[in-house]
Amino acid sequence: MTTASPLIIALDYPSLDAALCMADRLDPERCRVKVGKELFTRSGPNVLEALHGRGFEVFLDLKFHDIPNTVAAAVLSAAELGVWMVNVHASGGARMMQTARERLDKAGLGTHLIAVTVLTSMTQDELAATGVSDDLEAHVERLARLAKDSGMDGVVCSARESAMLKQACGEEFLKVTPGIRPSFAQAGDQRRIMTPREAMEAGSTHLVVGRPVTQAEDPMAALDAIERELAE
Ligand code: C5P
Repeated sequence: MTTASPLIIALDYPSLDAALCMADRLDPERCRVKVGKELFTRSGPNVLEALHGRGFEVFLDLKFHDIPNTVAAAVLSAAELGVWMVNVHASGGARMMQTARERLDKAGLGTHLIAVTVLTSMTQDELAATGVSDDLEAHVERLARLAKDSGMDGVVCSARESAMLKQACGEEFLKVTPGIRPSFAQAGDQRRIMTPREAMEAGSTHLVVGRPVTQAEDPMAALDAIERELAE
């Protein structure tokens, strides 16, 4: 099943059962779901099979970063498991990204392949400590351009970077943004947040939303409220 919704609900749970319990409260016609490192490490591909069986398209958020051949093989494995989207770290370099792209194309698999630029948890000082003396935003732009030139379909970015990346990489280039807080929700530990509407207006193409939906008493009612905010 495919959906026109930009919403991707983060299933950040420590077990298959807990993740499926939430998935069973959501509608695959109105959102996609994201499986991250904790859930996948605990449950393995079973969780993907179970979510696909329920009709969901899945973003497998494992952020691969390794030598080109290893990353390409991992990306291909994810695509063969039928995921809708998978990601790598752009800082792994052009050859790493190109090799993954080529391997997917050769297999004829249409999985969306996107790259993380700079983790949004990183501060300017932390970036400098890794040896990158550039301004953080300039580094994000450089890595996004590199990702595009290396055949990536888009990037994971902060909604605050979406407008700049729309300029740099175009409207079609996917901008998948976490740190989204609907006007009814608490910020939690997220700092630099945007509402769904603000993020879409800034140029985000997909919105990753976790706790505002998964910790709501009625997750579908929360999804409804987000859809209403987007439609306003
Ligand atoms: O619950 P919340 O909406 O904050 O969840 C956001 C999701 O997006 C989590 O899965 C989190 O790991 C992920 N994420 C993030 N910030 C990033 C990258 C990913 O919050 N920079």
